[in-house]
Amino acid sequence: MASAGASCIAATCSSSSWTSSSYSSSERAVLNTSQVRSFCKSQFKFSALSAASILSSSCSFLRFDELSNSIRKPRQKKAQTSSRIVVAMAADKMTVLVTGAGGRTGQIAYKKLEKRADEFTVRGLVRSEESKAKVGGDSLYVGDITKPETLKAAFSGIDTLIILTSAVPRMKPGFDPSKGGRPEFYYEDGQYPEQVDWLGQKAQIDLAKEVGVKQIVLVGSMGGTNEDHPLNSLGNGKILIWKRKAEKYLSEAGIPYTIIRAGGLLDKEGGIRELLLGKDDALLSTDTKSLPRADVAEVCIQALLNEEAKNKAFDLASKPEGEGTPTTDFKAFFSQCNTTF
Ligand SMILES: NC(=O)c1ccc[n+]([C@@H]2O[C@H](COP(=O)([O-])OP(=O)(O)OC[C@H]3O[C@@H](n4cnc5c(N)ncnc54)[C@H](OP(=O)(O)O)[C@@H]3O)[C@@H](O)[C@H]2O)c1
Repeated sequence: MASAGASCIAATCSSSSWTSSSYSSSERAVLNTSQVRSFCKSQFKFSALSAASILSSSCSFLRFDELSNSIRKPRQKKAQTSSRIVVAMAADKMTVLVTGAGGRTGQIAYKKLEKRADEFTVRGLVRSEESKAKVGGDSLYVGDITKPETLKAAFSGIDTLIILTSAVPRMKPGFDPSKGGRPEFYYEDGQYPEQVDWLGQKAQIDLAKEVGVKQIVLVGSMGGTNEDHPLNSLGNGKILIWKRKAEKYLSEAGIPYTIIRAGGLLDKEGGIRELLLGKDDALLSTDTKSLPRADVAEVCIQALLNEEAKNKAFDLASKPEGEGTPTTDFKAFFSQCNTTF
């Protein structure tokens, strides 16, 4: 009946009318979300949603057999707990879609969420079968954000969205560093920043709105306040200008959002640095303007878990490893931000 390994969260409830449970006390199992939902509906005559709303107060963990025993002996239990009775139930898990899940940060975010299966049901969107095989996971969808019709299956039924797609500049062949000079870059046809970072992100925001997504986290880039930023001349793609246009669109879309403008990304260990939150590219004129991709991925996930991150836009960087105190309190971290764009 109940699947072992699924999580069960207990909430305190002051209901006094208990009926006997149809579950046997010998079943040592933990309830999953839908089982808890139907259990609450049948036993306590209140909806899973209203039950979920009481989860925020005085929670503890409880095995199903303990719950069952408490239901079978209501009087005895009531006397013991003086009108407070503990109800085991699970909060609904959030279904999150990570787009750009084949990318360097996207892959980290996808895998982090996969490991937190008690809180999240994760899906990933990758551009090709090749990326799908490279990432390897049970819930990967193939789609191209410049072709919105390819995205519907991935977006259907999601609660939240993390956008980690970005146009990818390619180096023109023939560059020889030993001869000096600078490499030249180009974007593939149809995959210029205008198509990917503006129209592709816009298509995702529109589709998310259509399916009733509750929050969108968009990773952009620092540097957008300067139209002459060197990244804009890369492949003549004006990448930061198009990214900023998508950020603006999201901030006005009417869906709770978090815009994270990352500094230079490092393939280094996450979770061991003090993160820095800034605005208007001020961090770019300091020595601390980069951070590990793993930290960006974690901030995306934390943004889904903390109300303080909603309807905010900020720059993100980190102190060098070994300096400062690693950031762990994300509620406090997001509370520093007072900018909506
Ligand atoms: N690199 C930096 O230093 C830096 C600095 C600041 C901010 N950022 C931002 O941080 C984010 C993550 O950066 P990253 O370097 O980790 O990313 P990345 O490795 O370049 O990944 C970008 C992902 O977007 C996907 N993508 C591109 N076009 C697509 C399309 N048309 N349809 C579907 N997917 C598409 C790519 O798919 P494929 O795998 O198929 O190519 C790739 O997986 C990006 O938004 C980036 O702009 C980066």
